[in-house]
Amino acid sequence: MKLEIKNLSKRYKKNQYGLKNYSLELESGILGLLGPNGAGKSTLLKMIATISKPSDGTIYLNGQDIVQEPNLMRAQLGYLPQDFGVYHNLNAFEFLNYMAAMKGVGGSHLKKRIHLLLESLNLIDNAKRSIGTYSGGMKQRVGIAQALLNNPKVILLDEPTVGLDPQERVGFRNLISELADDAIVILSSHIVSDIDTISDQVAIMQDGQLLVLDDIDEIINSVQGKVVTTIIDKASLTTFKSTHTVINTMREGNNIKVRYIDDHVTDNINKDITQEDATLEDAYLYLTKKN
Ligand SMILES: Nc1ncnc2c1ncn2[C@@H]1O[C@H](COP(=O)(O)OP(=O)(O)OP(=O)(O)O)[C@@H](O)[C@H]1O
Ligand SMILES: [Mg+2]
Repeated sequence: MKLEIKNLSKRYKKNQYGLKNYSLELESGILGLLGPNGAGKSTLLKMIATISKPSDGTIYLNGQDIVQEPNLMRAQLGYLPQDFGVYHNLNAFEFLNYMAAMKGVGGSHLKKRIHLLLESLNLIDNAKRSIGTYSGGMKQRVGIAQALLNNPKVILLDEPTVGLDPQERVGFRNLISELADDAIVILSSHIVSDIDTISDQVAIMQDGQLLVLDDIDEIINSVQGKVVTTIIDKASLTTFKSTHTVINTMREGNNIKVRYIDDHVTDNINKDITQEDATLEDAYLYLTKKN
């Protein structure tokens, strides 16, 4: 599988872009799409899912233009929209059968496939209860299941881990890892820990633009050696923040432990400053920090 996005833009209003001149190339595997609220993650996924038309640019799947021929994408697509709503009167089993009929998925394998999805997503014990009685995380898992019904080769999940507890996240991660062997999977989130352990690559975006697309290790390397912590008193925090790239702060007694990025660490290091191992979160916050 190969997905190529070339100079893609979505203009919502005059001079207001959801996505601007965005280019990306992907082969099979899991891409984590990371960006703050309003970065353009959903705008991008909707255009790949062919439910929104680009204002400019093209999307190719295996060399074929899916903006011109959206059915080529739709036949291979599994999509969980961010605002997916499930039908409350149906139970999970009925709902998935209903969605399968809408997608034109049938045949002798369907029953088995639904059973397998319900089992992998830990819904099997509640499959005969109406969805209206489900918790938020359970509804989310039903949404994930419907996206995987047709054995899709392009899987787009917009904020799939919202509402999932730690156990369910593990289950979700295992399921997605199995699927990603011969499929392109794109997961969006604004929470680093939701996607860092599951993704092969991460794309960080902001203001409709791609800041970086790389392996997680490479992204972490870009700030390795620059992450430090130091203790300051509360009163100096505001001044400190205005002069340093602060990642986060933690109370420590009457003082504050500040984690920040120092581009000139070798010049500035002293006994009060500790160098720390960089994480993806450091890199993400550094790259998306607005000055
Ligand atoms: N239908 C629309 N009409 C006008 N502007 C829109 C529309 N949809 C999105 N936008 C704008 O486009 C930008 C990108 O929005 P988008 O929903 O793609 O961001 P996102 O990264 O998915 O954010 P979130 O993390 O909050 O889901 C935002 O500035 C948003 O206000
Ligand atoms: Mg979104």
